[in-house]
Amino acid sequence: MKNQKQTSPTVPSADGVWEALRLVPGLSHPDVPLADDALATVVVERGVVRWVGPGHALPPAHATLPRFAGQGALTTPGLVDCHTHLVYGGQRANEFALRLAGASYEEVARAGGGIVSSVRATREASEDELFALALPRLQALLDEGVCAIEIKSGYGLALEHERKQLRVARRLGEALGVTVRTTFLGAHALPPEYAGRSAAYTELVCKEMLPALAAEGLVDAVDVFCERIAFTLAETEQVFQAAQKLGIPVKLHAEQLSDMGGSALAARYGALSCDHIEHLSPTGIAAMKAAGTVAVLLPGAYYTLRDTQLPPIQQLRDAGVPMAVSTDHNPGTSPCLSLLLMANMACTLFRLTVPEALAGITSHAARALGLQDSHGLIAAGRPANFVLWRLREAAELAYWLGQKPDCTIVRQGQVVRN
Ligand code: NIG
Ligand code: FE
Repeated sequence: MKNQKQTSPTVPSADGVWEALRLVPGLSHPDVPLADDALATVVVERGVVRWVGPGHALPPAHATLPRFAGQGALTTPGLVDCHTHLVYGGQRANEFALRLAGASYEEVARAGGGIVSSVRATREASEDELFALALPRLQALLDEGVCAIEIKSGYGLALEHERKQLRVARRLGEALGVTVRTTFLGAHALPPEYAGRSAAYTELVCKEMLPALAAEGLVDAVDVFCERIAFTLAETEQVFQAAQKLGIPVKLHAEQLSDMGGSALAARYGALSCDHIEHLSPTGIAAMKAAGTVAVLLPGAYYTLRDTQLPPIQQLRDAGVPMAVSTDHNPGTSPCLSLLLMANMACTLFRLTVPEALAGITSHAARALGLQDSHGLIAAGRPANFVLWRLREAAELAYWLGQKPDCTIVRQGQVVRN
C-alpha cells in the first residue's frame, strides 16, 4: 500500500481513498450498500472516515485524493481491548508456581499475595518507572491492531498511587496515539494498612479518592471488585453511588468466583459492563439485558486460574446481551498481551462463534467502554481506526495461536504500521 501524501516523515497520514478492501461482515456501516463479496472503498479525510461503499459509487468529490491499494485485504475496525490492568510494578511468576503446586487464587490472596503484592511493587515504582514498564506491554497490544484500550488503576489503593497509575494511563495514550479510557478501581482490594477496616477504606474511596481523581480528569469510569475476597455488595453500591453523584459511568468485576448478585446491582446503576461473570445467574442476565449492559468475557483469567465454571454463554446469547472479549491483562490472573489469542480462547473455551468473537473485540468492546459511537465499526464520521489483514478468511483472526498476522494498521488517522 503506497501513501502519496505524508504529514511527517515517520508517521504517514491515512488521508486518501483506500481501495479494494474486503470488509468483514457486520463490522461496518457502508454509505452505499455493498453486494456480497464486493470489494469496498473507504475514504479518509483529516483523520476521519468520510465514506464507505463500493468503489464504483465513490462520490466524485473524493476522486482526486491520494490512493491506497488495499489489494483485497481482509479489513476490520481497529480492535478494542476493553478490560486491562496494564500499569503495575513487578510481576507475580511466584504465584504461578504456587498455583502449580496446588494453591488456589483465593488461598494465595488470603495469604497476603495476589493483588496486594502488586500493590507493594506499584507503590514502590515512580510514575516514570511505571510508564516505562507499561509502554512495551501497550505496544505489543497495538502491534496486533488494538486502537482503543481501557486501563484500570487498582494497584495503588491510596490516593497518590492511584493517581500515579491513572496519569501513566493518560500519558501512554498520548505517547502512542491511541484512545485510552481510564477506569478508577480503588475498590480492588483492601490495602494492608486498612486490614479489618473495610468500611473505612470504602469511605476513603468514595469521599476522597474518587472525587479528587475525577476533579483531575483522570476517571472515565469507576469499577469495583465485588467478591468474597474483595468488596461486598453493599460496599459496591456505596462506590456506585459516589460515581453516580459525579456523573461517571460504572462497570464491575462481577461473579468471577461466586454469585454475589453484583451484576444485577451494576445493571441497576446502568453499568457499561459486567466482567468475568462465570457465576452469573439468570436474574443477573435479565437485569443486564434490561439495562443494555455488556457482558465482558475474560478467557485469559479463566484459563490461568484453570477455572471450570463456564460463563453462561448460551443464556447470554438467547437473551441478546452483547458479549465482549478482552485480555484482562494483569500480572496475577491474565499476563496476556494478545487480544487475538483471547478471541481464540473465547471460541475454543467458551464456544463463541467467530463472528461473535470478532464483534467481541470490536463493536461490543467499544460499547463496554461507552465508545460505541466512535470505535469498533468502520463508518463515516468516525476517527479512522482500521486494520488490513493479510489473511484469506476472517476465521483466521481467531484460528491462529500466537501468530501475530501481518497487517497494515491505521490508527487515529495515521498509518502506524505497513
Ligand atoms: O480481573 N479479579 C480481580 N482483578 C483482576 C486480577 C487482579 C490480580 O490478581 O492482580 C482480574 O482478574
Ligand atoms: Fe480485571
